[in-house]
Amino acid sequence: MDHEADHEAGHAARRHALVALLKERQEVGEPVAAAMLAVPRHLFLPDMDPEEAYRDEAIVTKRDDEGRPISSSSQPAIMAAMLDQLGVAPGHRVLEIGAGTGYNAALLAHLVVPGGHVVSVDIDDDVVAGARRHLSAAGTSSPVEVVCADGAAGWPERAPYDRMIATVGVWDLAPAWLEQLKDDGRLVVPLDLRGMQVSVAMERSGGHWVSRSVVPCGFMRMRGPFAGPEVTLVLSRDPDLVLALPEPREIGDVLTALDAASTDIATKVDMSSPAMGTGLSLWLALHEPRWCVLSGKLGRGYGVTAGIVEGDGIALLAAERTLVARGHGAGGARLAAELAGHIGAWDQAGRPEAEDLRIEAYEAPTPTPGPGPRTGPDAGAVIGKRHTKLVLSFP
Ligand SMILES: C[S@@+](CC[C@H](N)C(=O)[O-])C[C@H]1O[C@@H](n2cnc3c(N)ncnc32)[C@H](O)[C@@H]1O
Repeated sequence: MDHEADHEAGHAARRHALVALLKERQEVGEPVAAAMLAVPRHLFLPDMDPEEAYRDEAIVTKRDDEGRPISSSSQPAIMAAMLDQLGVAPGHRVLEIGAGTGYNAALLAHLVVPGGHVVSVDIDDDVVAGARRHLSAAGTSSPVEVVCADGAAGWPERAPYDRMIATVGVWDLAPAWLEQLKDDGRLVVPLDLRGMQVSVAMERSGGHWVSRSVVPCGFMRMRGPFAGPEVTLVLSRDPDLVLALPEPREIGDVLTALDAASTDIATKVDMSSPAMGTGLSLWLALHEPRWCVLSGKLGRGYGVTAGIVEGDGIALLAAERTLVARGHGAGGARLAAELAGHIGAWDQAGRPEAEDLRIEAYEAPTPTPGPGPRTGPDAGAVIGKRHTKLVLSFP
């Protein structure tokens, strides 16, 4: 018995340490911190050492036949940030798309009591069974219901919802979600912006949707008919190199280009924080149609970088003393010059970060509004999706 009590005390101490670490790095609202202190994450990751379950890391729990992660417990830092964006209150009815381990559903359950209800949907029945098991082991089966369905249809049985959250990357806003949200409801989703992802909290404003907050994030993508057109090309397995494009497009032999000598164009922009890297990548994604993201074994370690790819070469961002545009292949020098031009434009615009982005979503077939008299250095970009049109600007 004492042994058991010692274990529990150890887990509680680990939860405290995790929440303290998150609070050092980001703002964490008190209700969300209290939920994280109360819910035992290790019971949602029963196959791993509890010590590891309380690290601020995403933990992959299922892969497809080719080894790609298809289910996980997301990184606690982004879970806390998204729950803060969501602003759940006692009594709320909440829909989650992507039950995974059930841990986030348990945090939501903690936030909605007394009186609220949580429905969490996952597309895989084995994942649903696992989430139910974990919730029951943690003693939180009651205001949570885990159901197996394609989350694109929402869950009309319990609609309307006060809050809706996707914990899987979405390419578009599903009409069902918008229909099933109350008029004053809020939706938080990891939204694809031409291959970059941001967690955006959206609310209705007149006849359309407007972002209330934006946080950079990186979630595995939604599966099923609602998946987006992004392309992930495995360039090489050893060393591990993956190229992502926002949509299918003809490109050249990138691996051979990367092996060729490079042309560097150094800029005057120093990269003082990783947040700037996300801001610049987002800027490129919104302004450069030939945009790509390369991840894997880059230089001495694993990393991610962005750039421009064409038939005759690729140019990528590199961080030396200052930011460098590095071109490879026959067209590398030309592409590096173009990439350096984008870095200059982002610098001129005041180096906007992801958090500065404003996103408006118009439900089709509403005609896309003209750019209108926008103030600020950037007139905004329009991204057409299947069901919505997004208008983006750095005000
Ligand atoms: C990152 S995990 C969710 C993490 C989870 N919230 C947790 O706390 O452990 C993403 C989940 O989304 C699910 N998913 C993928 N496509 C889906 C879809 N179309 N509908 C519902 N769930 C989906 C996956 O099966 C996976 O379990």
